[in-house]
Amino acid sequence: STDEKRTMAEVHELLAKLYHHCLLHTKQGRPALEYLENRGFTRESIERFQIGFAPDSWETASQFLQKRGMDLNTAEKVGLIGKRQSDGKPYDRFRNRIMFPIWDRTGAVVAFGGRVLDGKDEPKYLNSPESKIFQKGKTLYGLNLSRADMRQKQHAVIFEGYVDTIAAFRAGVTNGVATLGTSLTEDHAAILKRNVQSVTICYDSDRAGVEAAFRASEILTKQGCAVKISQMPDGMDPDDYITKFGNDSFLKDIIGASLTVMAFKIQYYRRGKNLRDEGERMIYIEEIIKEIARLPKAVERDHYLRQIASEFNLSLDALKQQQTQTFKQLQ
Ligand code: UTP
Ligand code: MN
Ligand code: MN
Ligand code: MN
Ligand code: MN
Repeated sequence: STDEKRTMAEVHELLAKLYHHCLLHTKQGRPALEYLENRGFTRESIERFQIGFAPDSWETASQFLQKRGMDLNTAEKVGLIGKRQSDGKPYDRFRNRIMFPIWDRTGAVVAFGGRVLDGKDEPKYLNSPESKIFQKGKTLYGLNLSRADMRQKQHAVIFEGYVDTIAAFRAGVTNGVATLGTSLTEDHAAILKRNVQSVTICYDSDRAGVEAAFRASEILTKQGCAVKISQMPDGMDPDDYITKFGNDSFLKDIIGASLTVMAFKIQYYRRGKNLRDEGERMIYIEEIIKEIARLPKAVERDHYLRQIASEFNLSLDALKQQQTQTFKQLQ
C-alpha cells in the first residue's frame, strides 16, 4: 500500500541521517571517516552523496527506529532489520559498514549499499534486498544528483560502482550514474534514453567489466543511444585511475579518449596479439568479422570491412563472403 511505501521511505530517510551523523560526529565513526579520507573522499563528496557509517552494534538502528515510533516489521521487510530465530528479537543487518544511500528518481532514499572497512569481511558490499520501493534493474545510482547535468549535456557516463561515481564526480564528471554491479537492463537504458542522446560506458577494466560493457552497449544502442566505451589500463577501475593519475588525466585520457563501440572492439581484440603471426592474425580477423556481421547498418558494415581489407591486404569480396556466412551462423 501507499502507506507502507511511505513508511519504508521514512525508515530509510531516518537511518540515512543517523548513519551520516555517526560518520561525521561520533567517535565510533572515526576509523570510517579516516578510511574515506585516505581514499580521497572530500567533505563535499561525503555531503553530496550523504555517506554514512553503521556502527559495530546489533541494536543501534533498531533502537533508534523504535524510539521514533517506526514499525520494525516494515524495517524488516526492506532488509534493514533482522529478527533473531530463537526469540524474535530485532537486530541490525548493517553493522560496521560505510553506508551509501541509494535514491529513487525523486531523491528518496530507498536502499543502502554497505561497504566493509577492512576488506576481510564478506561480502565486500552488503546491499539492501529488492523491495516494494527498490528494484535494482530500474535504479541508477546517483541519477537524482546528476540528472540536470545529464540533460543539459545530453550525455551520461555509466560506472559500475558507488566509489567510481563519487570519485568521477570529484574529478568533474557531474553527469555520472552507476548500475551497481548488476548488468545494465532495458529499463536502465530506457531511463537513460529519456534523458540523453549519448552515453559513455566506463566500467572496470577487467574481463567482467569489458564483457558487461559490450552487453550494455548492445542494449543502449537498441534503445537508440549513441554509445562510447572508455577503458583504463588493465585491471584498474575509474576510482583506481583517478587516485593514481589524477582528475585531469581521467577527464582527458580516459573519458575524453573513449571510443565508439566498434573502434573499441578493434583495439580490444588486438591487445596481446601479434598480428604479424598468421594464425593470430586470422583469429583476430574472424573476431572482428563476427562483430561487423552484427552491426545493424549496411553502411557501417561496408566501412569496417573495407578498413580490414586494406589493412591486411585482403579482397573485399572474400571478406564479404565470410561476413555473410558468419551472419547466417549468428541467426
Ligand atoms: P567492485 O568489486 O568493482 O567494487 O564492484 P568497487 O566499486 O571498485 O568498490 P571498492 O573500490 O572496492 O570500494 C562494483 C560494484 O558492484 C557491487 C557494488 O555496487 C560495487 O560498487 N558489488 C560489488 C556488490 O553489490 N557486492 C559486492 O560484494 C561487490
Ligand atoms: Mn551532512
Ligand atoms: Mn568490478
Ligand atoms: Mn571496481
Ligand atoms: Mn574500486
